[in-house]
Amino acid sequence: MRRCWSGAEGQPRLILFPDAADNQQVPTGTWRACITLFTWNDSYSVQVQLCDAQHKKLFEIINQLADAMRTGKGDEVVSGTIGELLLYTGTHFQQEEALLRKTNYPRLAGHEEMHRRFVAEVAALDRQARAGRTANSVQVLGLLRDWLLNHIQKVDRQYSAHLNAAGIH
Ligand SMILES: [Fe+2]
Ligand SMILES: [Fe+2]
Repeated sequence: MRRCWSGAEGQPRLILFPDAADNQQVPTGTWRACITLFTWNDSYSVQVQLCDAQHKKLFEIINQLADAMRTGKGDEVVSGTIGELLLYTGTHFQQEEALLRKTNYPRLAGHEEMHRRFVAEVAALDRQARAGRTANSVQVLGLLRDWLLNHIQKVDRQYSAHLNAAGIH
């Protein structure tokens, strides 16, 4: 299987990777051209400067992995990416939740639960990496991509009007 195609403009492309059998018939490196960096655009903005800046940092961390994968070094850097992501999401989630808590955001509990589940997934990958079972960079990039698209664009953006109305921009 070897497919890649563009999502909507500015969004990461959906990437499927070749299985072993197919891979033998695909010239080395061909699929790597399918990996695109995650480009920030306004559809990711939550209209709150602090959160946008932190989300951009998450993009940067993920792009380090995508970039390494493009040169065939993804599996070498993936455990570092996981560790960095675990640390940074900890900081970001704490600050985002603090803003929501102090403004009595009605959907706080559900939002916190989504954060908690994501951290648990990344922590499990981190434990695997520390135990020497290096996580597959394809799996990790897929997890991160799904989270970026779904969480920031759909869930985080739900709080924009609430925080803006409380004077937080
Ligand atoms: Fe969030
Ligand atoms: Fe967020």
